[in-house]
Amino acid sequence: MNNPHETTNRLSSMSLNFEGCVIAAREGETVATALLAAKAGYTGTSQVSGRRRSPYCLTGICFECLVEVNGHANQRACMVRVRKNMTIRRQNRLPSLHLKGRET
Ligand code: FES
Repeated sequence: MNNPHETTNRLSSMSLNFEGCVIAAREGETVATALLAAKAGYTGTSQVSGRRRSPYCLTGICFECLVEVNGHANQRACMVRVRKNMTIRRQNRLPSLHLKGRET
């Protein structure tokens, strides 16, 4: 009997580091889907309201999923594919206030 999940099972497993925790991921998926599947919680906070933000549209439109990827701020987690040796951090600042080399 065919396993309906066979294709999924053949995808190689990977992991990424999110705020110091190892999160399981699958090759080809986005950082956002890996974090959602792992129930990793919010991806950042709004500097305006202080509310926690999480992926919403998963299509690159809403910018609710901004994270820092390997030290690079303002990355949309839903548009970034999981790669080896990724370190993801929550983004807790306004994207427009981030200046390279300066903490905001
Ligand atoms: S979830 Fe909307 S831009 Fe990423």
